[in-house]
Amino acid sequence: MKNDISNIELKDRDLDVLWHPCTQMKDHETLPLIPIKKAHGVYLEDFDGNSYIDAISSWWVNMFGHTNKYINEKIKEQLDTLEHVILAGFTHKQVVILSERLVKLTPTGLDKCFYSDNGSSAVEVALKMSYHSHLNDGKKDKTIFVSLTNSYHGETIGALSVGDVELYKETYSPLLLKTMQTPVPKDMSVKAAQDAAMEFENLCKRESKNISAIILEPLIQGAGNMHMYHAQFLVLVREICSRYDVHLIADEVMVGFGRTGELFACEKAKITPDFLVLSKGLTGGYLPLSVVLTSNEIYAKFYCDYSEHKAFLHSHSYTGNALACAAANATLDIFENDDVIENNKILAEHMNEKLQSFLTLENVKSIRQTGMVCAIDLKNYDSKLRMGLKVYQYGLKNGVLLRPLGNVIYFMPPYVITKLEIDKMMNTAFDAIKLLD
Ligand SMILES: Cc1ncc(COP(=O)(O)O)c(C=O)c1O
Repeated sequence: MKNDISNIELKDRDLDVLWHPCTQMKDHETLPLIPIKKAHGVYLEDFDGNSYIDAISSWWVNMFGHTNKYINEKIKEQLDTLEHVILAGFTHKQVVILSERLVKLTPTGLDKCFYSDNGSSAVEVALKMSYHSHLNDGKKDKTIFVSLTNSYHGETIGALSVGDVELYKETYSPLLLKTMQTPVPKDMSVKAAQDAAMEFENLCKRESKNISAIILEPLIQGAGNMHMYHAQFLVLVREICSRYDVHLIADEVMVGFGRTGELFACEKAKITPDFLVLSKGLTGGYLPLSVVLTSNEIYAKFYCDYSEHKAFLHSHSYTGNALACAAANATLDIFENDDVIENNKILAEHMNEKLQSFLTLENVKSIRQTGMVCAIDLKNYDSKLRMGLKVYQYGLKNGVLLRPLGNVIYFMPPYVITKLEIDKMMNTAFDAIKLLD
């Protein structure tokens, strides 16, 4: 089979054999696929030589640009040393170094790392660990997980069960675990945070005997249309969890690694969750890897003779993959060496200035921002008019990959974006929305 293929040929061959994620495949009768030939920095380039600014960091994973020279080098070095080894009974240098660094960088009190391959599987790990640690304590009734309304935690059965976005959940509802939802703060105010925390406390008063954990996305609900809330909610939820013997699982799969302006969103509230879930940016957007961090105290509940049947017998074949860990260590090197968090503040400020201008548009209802994530709500949204699709198509025609979520246009670019590229990215979205007027 020849490999020097054209754009059009590649699209046809793709549709013959591939089934794409999160896609109604029939859409591709009218909506062309975009084969990407190569990528560098914030740019994706297709086979016709068109380039697109990756304004969504390729599903929120990319941190320091595509084909980053430093991360490439580190993966190549690792490739010639050790690509992968079983992590049960064996270990390797990259996973040990990475774990030491994560324990040091994450909030105090998170002491142990358990690896997995993607965000959803790590959520499953955190849920199982929470339930199992209560069980090992003799608390058999703690079988319920609470999550926030409008939340998203992935699409495997357990992760979907704690999510609350109808689009993904509805079809599979007969298959899902029984969970409970408590209201997310309705906006970014302290008052909304307090009101929502009170609701959660009321739920705990009634049900805490049966509740294992609450899982939440700190500060930004990504797939829930980039809904944002105040850090005070995390402070209050942490207190309530401690008082009612309910675990707090912080799912920082999307918000981790600097998206909110701190390395980890929990830092904004100065809290330590019982479980911290990380993925996406962990490898700089290069390779699938995820990790759940927890405390020595929880780890100790599983530490005993095998015959006591308390061990956490969860595994994935590629757990702690050496190439992915090398990519993660390279990503952390960049955070360490390049003062990324400070530099992001300057970029975020620039994005904020541009964001204000969207309020002048007839079709814009509101705007919001947390760190390196900006979102715009469209007014008079009508899904039948496919406004999001129009913005997406306009973006592509003009060199920017925007991927609206319902009525929300958002920006979550890699951190290597320049001010000029921010201008191009946001001006393109501005013009696209203006055309909807
Ligand atoms: C907050 C959050 N949790 C979990 C996931 C699931 O991660 P993955 O797609 O790697 O399974 C996502 C994915 O977008 C996410 O945003």
